[in-house]
Amino acid sequence: STIQASLRQGRAQVNGRSFSSGSAPHRKVAVLGAAGGIGQPLSLLMKLNPLVSQLSLYDIAGTPGVAADVSHINTRSEVTGYVGEDQLGKALEGCDIVIIPAGVPRKPGMTRDDLFNINAGIVKGLCTAIAKYCPNALVNMISNPVNSTVPIASEVFKKAGTYDEKRLFGVTTLDVVRAKTFYAGKANVNVSEVNVPVVGGHAGITILPLFSQATPTANLSDEVLTALTKRTQDGGTEVVEAKAGKGSATLSMAYAGALFADACLKGLNGVPDVVECSFVQSSITELPFFASKVRLGKNGVEEVLGLGALSDYEKQGLEALLPELKSSIEKGIKFANQ
Ligand code: NAI
Repeated sequence: STIQASLRQGRAQVNGRSFSSGSAPHRKVAVLGAAGGIGQPLSLLMKLNPLVSQLSLYDIAGTPGVAADVSHINTRSEVTGYVGEDQLGKALEGCDIVIIPAGVPRKPGMTRDDLFNINAGIVKGLCTAIAKYCPNALVNMISNPVNSTVPIASEVFKKAGTYDEKRLFGVTTLDVVRAKTFYAGKANVNVSEVNVPVVGGHAGITILPLFSQATPTANLSDEVLTALTKRTQDGGTEVVEAKAGKGSATLSMAYAGALFADACLKGLNGVPDVVECSFVQSSITELPFFASKVRLGKNGVEEVLGLGALSDYEKQGLEALLPELKSSIEKGIKFANQ
C-alpha cells in the first residue's frame, strides 16, 4: 500500500510530489474516544499515517495507557494522551482533523437509533468543545446514529457561530468498504480494483449501495444485487450478532475511519481528485444532509457530487429511505435545540 511504501521510505506523498517527513505540512489529528474498541485500532492506524505530525488521543478514561503504547511506534507523529474533560481543550487546540468514535456501540437486537439517548449528549458536549478550541478543524463523525449525530453537530456549531458545512462529515466509509468486499466476492473481480458508491445515510435501509455503478462491471442477476444490497445494509448487524454482546464493528471501522481521515488529510494538503462517500450537508435531495460522493480539498468539501444514473431498484430504494432519514435528521436537530 502507499502508506507502507511511504513508511519504508520515511516519506509522505503530497501533491504528487514526495516530501521527506520533515517537510510535509504539520497536521494535528485528534481521536475522541481513543481508548474504545474503535478508538484503539484507529489510533494505531493514524500513528502509521505519515501525513500526521501530531496525534492527540482523548477519552474519559484509559488514554494514558493507549498513548504510551502507541507512542513507542517509530513513525513521524508525536503522540499525546489526554484524559477527562479538563484536558479536552488541550487535546483539541490546533487540530486540523477531529475524529469522533466516542459513545456506546450496539448490542444484539438494538438499532443504531437505540443509541441516541446516550450518544447524542456525548456528541453535543464534544462538539461544543470543538467549536471553542478548534473551530476550523474537519470533523469526522463516527458515533452512531450518524444520521442524527451529524445534524446535532451542525446545530451546535451554528449556535456557536462556527458552522462551516464544508468541514462536517459523517463517516460512511465502512458501508463502502463492505459493499466493495461483498461485490468483489459475487462478481469474482479483484477486490482492490472495486469501486462502489454508497449513498443515503448510515443505518439500515438508509444505506443505499449503487451496484449499478460498480466497477469493474459484472453481469449480476437481480437476485444477487438484492442480496448484496441487503448484506451491505445489514453488515453492521452481522458483526453485532457474531460478537454476541461484545460490541459492534471495531477493526473494520478503524480501517474505514483511517481511510477517510487519510482522504481528508490529502485534500487539505492539496492532492487533486480525492473523492470519497460521506454524509454531508447536501442539496442533491430535498433533505439537508445526505451521503454521496464528495470531492475533498483544502477547505474540506470541495464539491458534493450528484447521484449519477440509478437503476429502477435503486430509485425505489432512494424513495423508501427518504422518510426514515428525514426523521433521523429532524430528531438530531430537535435534540440539539432543546
Ligand atoms: P466502545 O464502547 O468500545 O468505545 C467508546 C469509547 O468512547 C470508550 O472508550 C468511552 O470511554 C469513550 N467515551 C464515552 N464518552 C466519552 C466522552 N464524553 N468523551 C470521550 N470519549 C468518551 O465503542 P466502539 O465500539 O468503539 O464504538 C464507538 C461508536 O462508534 C459507537 O457509537 C458505535 O455505534 C459507532 N460506530 C460507528 C460506525 C460507523 O460506520 N460510523 C461503525 C461502528 C461503530
